[in-house]
Amino acid sequence: MKISPSLLAADFSRLAQEVSRVEKAGADMLHLDVMDGNFVPNISFGAPVIGALRPHSKLFFDVHLMIDRPERYLAGFVKAGADGITIHFESTKDPAAVLRTIREMGISPAISVSPDTPVEVLYPLLPLVDMVLIMTVYPGFGGQKLIPDTLKKISALRAEIDRLGLPVSIQADGGIGLGNLRDVLDSGVDVVVAGSAVFGAPDPTEAINRMRAIEHS
Ligand code: DX5
Ligand code: ZN
Repeated sequence: MKISPSLLAADFSRLAQEVSRVEKAGADMLHLDVMDGNFVPNISFGAPVIGALRPHSKLFFDVHLMIDRPERYLAGFVKAGADGITIHFESTKDPAAVLRTIREMGISPAISVSPDTPVEVLYPLLPLVDMVLIMTVYPGFGGQKLIPDTLKKISALRAEIDRLGLPVSIQADGGIGLGNLRDVLDSGVDVVVAGSAVFGAPDPTEAINRMRAIEHS
C-alpha cells in the first residue's frame, strides 16, 4: 500500500511545514486537491501553491484536478512540479486526448470517476494511464464519510486490470481511515488517499504506522 496524504486537511497557514511533517511521518506521495468552484462546489488552491511547495519536498506530487476542462491548465501544473496528474472522466469531452497529452508532457497520467459514474466507462482508457482514482466520496470536500457502494467499483476494476494484465494501480480517495482501511484494501486498492486521517491526527507518524499495521494484519 502507498499512502498519499491529502493536503486539503493540512493547516493552510503553514503548508511547507505540514508537507515536511507527513514526509517525515513516512508518506509515499502527497495528494494535492485542486478545485475550481465549477466542477466541484469548492475552491482550494492551484499551480502557484504547488510550485511554492515543490522545493520543500521530494515526495511524488499526486495532483488531483477537480476542474472543468483540465486541458487548459496542464502545462502550468507540470511546470509547478506535478509528478502525476489525475483528471476526472466527467470534466472533459475527450479524456483520452488529455491523458495522452499528460503522458507526452513526461509525467504520469491518471483518470478518476465520481461516485455516480460507472467504472466501466474507464475500461477503454486503461492502456493510457498509470493509475485510476475511484472517488469514495462526492468530490469537493474533505472529512466526508466513505460511500460503501464505491468499493464494488474498485473490485470490478481490479478484476478488469488483472484480466488485461496492465500495470495500472488503483487509488481510493475520500473518507478513508483506520476504521475502514481493511475493507478498502480488500477491495483491491494500492494507493490510499487520507486527508483527515493523517493531517487531522495528533501525530501523523502514529497514524501512518497504524495504517501500515492494518495492512499487515
Ligand atoms: C475530496 C478530495 C479528497 C479529500 C480526502 O474532493 O479529493 O482528496 O480531501 O480527504 P478525507 O480523507 O478527509 O476524506
Ligand atoms: Zn483528492
